Amino acid sequence: MEMGSSIFRKKDVNSLLHQRSPLKRTLRTMDLTFLGIGAIIGTGIFVLTGKGALTAGPALSVSFLIAGICCGFAALCYAEFASLAPISGSAYTYSYIAFGEIIAFIIGWDLILEYSLATATVSAGWSGYLVSLLGDFGIHLPTVLTAAAGTTPGVTTYFNLPAFLIVLIITWIISIGITQTKEVNNVMVIIKIGVVLLFIICTVWFVKTANWHPFNPYGWYSYHGGTATGIIPAASIVFFSFIGFDAVSSSAEETINPSKTLPRGIILSLVISLILYVIMTLIMTGIVKYTGFANYLNAPIMAVLHKTGQLWLSIIVSLGAIVGMTTVMLVCLYGQSRISYSMSRDGLFPKFFSDIHPKYQTPAKGTWFFGIVTALAGGLINLNILSELVNIGTLTAFILVSAGILYMRRKQPDLKRGFRAPGVPFTPLLSIGFCLVLIAGLNWETWLRFLVWLAIGLTLYFTYGRKHSKINAD
Ligand code: ALA
Repeated sequence: MEMGSSIFRKKDVNSLLHQRSPLKRTLRTMDLTFLGIGAIIGTGIFVLTGKGALTAGPALSVSFLIAGICCGFAALCYAEFASLAPISGSAYTYSYIAFGEIIAFIIGWDLILEYSLATATVSAGWSGYLVSLLGDFGIHLPTVLTAAAGTTPGVTTYFNLPAFLIVLIITWIISIGITQTKEVNNVMVIIKIGVVLLFIICTVWFVKTANWHPFNPYGWYSYHGGTATGIIPAASIVFFSFIGFDAVSSSAEETINPSKTLPRGIILSLVISLILYVIMTLIMTGIVKYTGFANYLNAPIMAVLHKTGQLWLSIIVSLGAIVGMTTVMLVCLYGQSRISYSMSRDGLFPKFFSDIHPKYQTPAKGTWFFGIVTALAGGLINLNILSELVNIGTLTAFILVSAGILYMRRKQPDLKRGFRAPGVPFTPLLSIGFCLVLIAGLNWETWLRFLVWLAIGLTLYFTYGRKHSKINAD
């Protein structure tokens, strides 16, 4: 390790590779692909497509393609880093190796925001589908307890109880162990993919190509009624749909032969999701005129099923969406617990977050701490604000990981890598370029909120992390 009190002190990748991990290795390529799909397909496609369709029209599928390509370039960089340093901590650990402690802290802090708030966002979407499904069976929860305060204009709501409870249940599953997490996840991902395929097969026949005209009503970037519209702003919104593949890399210490299996898991899960998304959005905008999604912002899939009259399918799809979003929360919260575990193990967070449970061999205390905070966020905060904040946090992480690959190729070209991203330096440069375009597509309030979060993180680093850093002690 590079010693000294510099805030840019670094970890040495070779000594990291010799570090022993108390976590159990049980995951293979298929588990990782399932873990990736588990994290990827969720609120983005089941909820945000409504807003996306209003923002870009039928060209929403192009927005998905752009967001997917952006993630593809970043995924190749993640995959190379994962094969170079198959250690818990994902982008946080990679930045520690490439750029030094302070950047690593910032990115770790940023990832905690990403995973926790992504889970909170998805829990709110999950709750929406649950409430609608229960409604189909004549069960009505008290409205005040079904959404965060101020979520729906004109409707009094205080707290999202289902969102709060589901996050606590997921926290419990993660805290009792990775084997259980893997099994629960694999079953749920199979159900989720099954439901998505069923939706595609049952509805594709109802597509009317007339609905695709005009295909691109708002162009690449324009303003309508004070809101950014067009393919790029929609891509910035639906970028959320791809978040999660990066969580695969945070399982490095629990993976068998990680330098080969991690890159495969990351790339496979991303490609499968991208294909399903493009097909689904073409079908959705081919059945319902894009303006028609205005009345279905919480459950755009229902707009399609109401149009086709397949109400029987709506119950199955709601169930699939509920299961699908559950796995997203499972993987995101899992990734989150592994980031805080790694940061604590490095001394940047208190030891509490890396205490391993003697029986379950998981960082149970840290998992519960962030699980409860996340559950409260899901209960109290509005979904739309959160999802954009998650996007900016993730895009920043992607930029750093891509820049990290450029740096490592120059500084340590001979270091053993199980996977080399093709097309370097263009791949990371394109990844950075795409991420910047998508950040530009977000609104300034989101940039501001993100800066506030970073400022809190930096304060923590200078008051705690810097002094307690393991590198300092060494
Ligand atoms: N990609 C995940 C989702 O769409 C976060 O729910």
